[in-house]
Amino acid sequence: MTAVTQGANPDRFEQFVRGMTRVVDTLGDDEPGLLDAAATLLEELVRNDDWLPDRFAAPSDQSYRQYLLYRELGNRFSVVSFVWQPGQKTPIHDHTVWGLVGVMRGEEMCEEYRTDSDGVHEGGKHRLPAGAIDRVSPRIGDVHRVSNAGQVTAVSIHVYGADIGTTGRHVFDESTGAVTEFVSGYSNGELGPLLPSIDVR
Ligand code: FE2
Repeated sequence: MTAVTQGANPDRFEQFVRGMTRVVDTLGDDEPGLLDAAATLLEELVRNDDWLPDRFAAPSDQSYRQYLLYRELGNRFSVVSFVWQPGQKTPIHDHTVWGLVGVMRGEEMCEEYRTDSDGVHEGGKHRLPAGAIDRVSPRIGDVHRVSNAGQVTAVSIHVYGADIGTTGRHVFDESTGAVTEFVSGYSNGELGPLLPSIDVR
């Protein structure tokens, strides 16, 4: 059996971005249709773990990492790799735009919440093994906490309907119900995105 070198197939990611651009072009006003089509593309991307360079999958002892992989020219979508060591988790947060999570390595846990004037309320939770796709949006449920549910580093690929790192969002304190605005930014530092913001059509 030939070992696959991770990051050896950069064309796969460019093909994904090209497909996503078409999806946003044609289904930008149809969120359910857009999520269906984008989920199919993301499933294919995370099922083939041969394209993500190691520098975009580097974990940190401090916290989970979020690396910008691609930002569409008009900020209509962005693609981000999330990297979690065992035990690392997000705060309870929203997105304010549609989003898709595709688990590529390891296993994640998604805990859903609902918010109202009384505060933050626990909903269901579900485990996401490698290959699973999850969806969020203000329409279908937008508040959750995501964590690494396994014993090895987990990597998931996320797609959002905005430049998510610069989007104003909220974190929720479960015990007090306090809502705090936040902008996540990215973990790239000096590292540029995997694919520059070029028109790939
Ligand atoms: Fe999230």
